[in-house]
Amino acid sequence: MNFKIPRGTQDILPGKVEHWQYVEDKARDICRRYNYKELRTPIFEQTELFMRGVGDTTDIVQKEMYTFEDRGGRSLTLRPEGTASAVRSYVENKLFGSPIQPTKLYYVGPMFRYERPQSGRMRQFVQFGVEALGSADPAIDAEVLALAMEFYRELGLKNLKLIINSLGDTESRNAHRQALISHFEPRISEFCSDCQARLEKNPLRILDCKKDKDHELMATAPAILDYLNEDSKAYFAKVQKLLNDMEIEFQVDPNLVRGLDYYNNTAFEIMIGGDGFGSITTLCGGGRYNGLVQEIGGPETPGIGFALSIERLLMALEVQNVTLPVNDQLDCYVIAMGEEAKVAASNISFKLRQAGLSTDQDYLDKKMKAQMKAADRFKASFVVIIGENELEKNVVVVKEMETGEQQEVSINDLTKFLQQKLIR
Ligand code: HAM
Repeated sequence: MNFKIPRGTQDILPGKVEHWQYVEDKARDICRRYNYKELRTPIFEQTELFMRGVGDTTDIVQKEMYTFEDRGGRSLTLRPEGTASAVRSYVENKLFGSPIQPTKLYYVGPMFRYERPQSGRMRQFVQFGVEALGSADPAIDAEVLALAMEFYRELGLKNLKLIINSLGDTESRNAHRQALISHFEPRISEFCSDCQARLEKNPLRILDCKKDKDHELMATAPAILDYLNEDSKAYFAKVQKLLNDMEIEFQVDPNLVRGLDYYNNTAFEIMIGGDGFGSITTLCGGGRYNGLVQEIGGPETPGIGFALSIERLLMALEVQNVTLPVNDQLDCYVIAMGEEAKVAASNISFKLRQAGLSTDQDYLDKKMKAQMKAADRFKASFVVIIGENELEKNVVVVKEMETGEQQEVSINDLTKFLQQKLIR
């Protein structure tokens, strides 16, 4: 039997994994600078959490969840996103009671959605996300947006478009909801069965329908921006002012609704323009979710966050020919000729590794030339050669690969010698 990787998943092999590590390190670094702390939650949660959190009229809950029953008869779901889990953890661990507020969290980890796989759309993908809980200050909205944009900018991505919208507070949303129902109801029979079901439950979701996106009523649907009350308008205006002050460019798109139910006020997506990116152009999505903590059993607490996938980020970097400065060079390759020299080589490698140098050696009894080739393949900065003659004198020959320079160094001084050379 030949085993195959499940559809919509991928192996990340050496050679590629360095890119992942690089961008994940960058994510951690920017979170350190913005003072967001890492949160790690389980890969699976009670199914009910996502039905409540993400919303049971969303595509994610209706069509895309990996849900299973465990041996104890509990319904569990592989997390399709990170916000519901972060909020569950915030409530369960009573982080709202901590003197450090707002609670600023980030996560990097795999998410699972049963989607139709295509380039940039996987069934298992890795999200980097942040969540700031406990503040309804527009400055936090601006901070979260700035963090996302700066993350991409620092990695070297160009041609990014930040699209923002306001979904309004509860009052504004209710007014908009009524307007949507009146708009679609007379002709709802022309829409798909999902939309028909959404009309009463959550008419905003109709605007997000992929099947009916070209129906004429879509373009003329009432826009939320026309239904914002004074508070919501003032809030949105402040967010925009803060972004302008930071010189972060954005566009307001009144049609941006997002595919998850928990949003209100600020909603946003970061898209990438230009050729070569196929149909998927959204790199990042997020927004404010002031009712979610309460929905999940906690005290009334505002929240805002975003998530982006590393898969789409790496695709975008590739399309724009951005080379990441990953260091895949080995510091030192130890070449031994002869039985006793091989024994000494193992100890030399051990000592160099202990001192922090990345070091490797031959384990396949290769000839000298083949060992040199291996050193080349690993892009070793130095080769340390030890044969019977050297062993007798307690020395090695050190070759600097870039210059070809060679010199004898006492085994006792080798670590220090290489460390000094590598500092340069
Ligand atoms: P989302 O828009 O569902 O929002 O996903 C956010 C990002 O995850 C997308 O923009 C995309 O980069 C990536 N993504 C989603 N699905 C896939 C997929 N199948 N394959 C590859 N990448 C994918 C959320 O998940 C919210 N939890 C974001 C958030 C955080 N809102 C507030 N806080």
